[in-house]
Amino acid sequence: MTTYTFVTGSPREVAAGLLVVPVFEGPEPGPGAKETRTFEAYMGARLTGKKGETLLVPKRRGDRFAADAVLLVGVGPKDAFDVTALRRTIGRVAGSARRFGTVATTFPMALGVRHAGEAVQAAAEGLALGSYRFERYRSKPEGDGPLKAIMVVGSSRWDQKAAKVALKRAEVIVDAVCWARDLVNTPAGDLPPAAIARAAQAMARSVGLTCKVWTEPQLKQGGFGGILGVGRGSANPPRMIELTYAGAGRAKPLALTGKGIAFDSGGLSIKPADGMETMKCDMGGAASILATMKVLARLKPKINVIAVIPSSENMPSGTAQKPGDVIRHRGGTTSEVLNTDAEGRLILADALAYLIEKKPQLIVDTATLTGACMVALGSDITGAMGNDDALIQEIVDAGALVGEPTWQLPLHHDYRPLIDSKVADVKNIGKRYGGAITAALFLAEFVGDTPWCHLDIAGPAFADGAHDLGPAGGTGVPVRTLVRFVLDRAGG
Ligand code: BES
Ligand code: MN
Ligand code: ZN
Repeated sequence: MTTYTFVTGSPREVAAGLLVVPVFEGPEPGPGAKETRTFEAYMGARLTGKKGETLLVPKRRGDRFAADAVLLVGVGPKDAFDVTALRRTIGRVAGSARRFGTVATTFPMALGVRHAGEAVQAAAEGLALGSYRFERYRSKPEGDGPLKAIMVVGSSRWDQKAAKVALKRAEVIVDAVCWARDLVNTPAGDLPPAAIARAAQAMARSVGLTCKVWTEPQLKQGGFGGILGVGRGSANPPRMIELTYAGAGRAKPLALTGKGIAFDSGGLSIKPADGMETMKCDMGGAASILATMKVLARLKPKINVIAVIPSSENMPSGTAQKPGDVIRHRGGTTSEVLNTDAEGRLILADALAYLIEKKPQLIVDTATLTGACMVALGSDITGAMGNDDALIQEIVDAGALVGEPTWQLPLHHDYRPLIDSKVADVKNIGKRYGGAITAALFLAEFVGDTPWCHLDIAGPAFADGAHDLGPAGGTGVPVRTLVRFVLDRAGG
């Protein structure tokens, strides 16, 4: 458990294991560098404040600061420094702060009072996300334990209440993002659909959300042919998780859904071995929706939100669905399964059709849906598509604000004939090119006129290597985007 505190006063007096202090290009001392008299050492080391530079100054007898060490971090030109740069710069050094046990930072003071709340939140997020590690499967811990305390140093002239609210918000968001990362990083062998559902139920109980889990017989009864068809080849039966957050009386809810493929082998249209290596990440959309609901239940915005998460395991076997099979989705639409590896859209179709019955204001779905989206946007950027440009723009903007880059791709209707089926209403694959768009066009069949935004997170849900805000593995994208979007909708 990490504690989060907002402190004011001189950085010199902060009794932390490590005090992290920014230096602008020049070098020009950021807040705390002069007071702790460590700036001289920085210049003495011939550093200039360029992005990525660091200098660790351990305390020696006679030094004028209370921390055990000061870490000076170059942040580049002062005028280019913003909330996203703050979060990432501090995230990059957070891992090495773990060995000091407790960490404090003056970074928010470098952005000034205009951004106080945002800067406090970003600093805490950077430290907590950057120091996240997944160690459950090591027989002995590799290095240092998690941070015991995060202290954000600010000015006594700032609105203290706003700073504390921002810190609380960071704590709640980080807890959920790290939980989503844990779920994604947990091997698929230990997290079949039933286990995802149990994790959701335990979360719901702990934060006071309503949770209903649909079992396989109930899904049969309800006509969820997509979830069942994909799950047919697996020894681990599918589930559907339904969560309700009520914060605004009888107002129409926002609706969320996320792809919960516990493992994607491709099914009978089986993937090559290297394509399967990271396919425990195929429930990244589901994890991010569960985490978003956890945040909402704890921050209690005035809004109603429902979330429905379909979860199946996509495996080949004697009972698996076959290329050419036709399935009937919730609501009656039929689809021809020409490639069993295009399974995400099949389970999401059922969830979308079910959500539509609830007459929501809008729907957002997120899914590790297509390799084609990674070809288009690379591994950092979420692809956004949908039937409502204003809604998509709102989510793209939320992503930019929280540092989760999101880019709109066109839902080009001229491509719709690519998913015409010879035998059913629609088929589950298009042609070779434009795969992210034809997947979205398939989903569009199930949302009707309801404003809808689809987020393809095949790239950013899972990192191949370490990045500024964490290690290789699950990233928790797009939890922070979704939280920002929903909180802004609820009026902050
Ligand atoms: N889960 C994959 C997409 C994916 C690939 C996510 C790589 C993350 C990293 C999805 O189910 C899939 O297999 N998509 C196919 C669709 C194709 C068969 C139309 C793809 O992208 O190749
Ligand atoms: Mn697949
Ligand atoms: Zn998949």
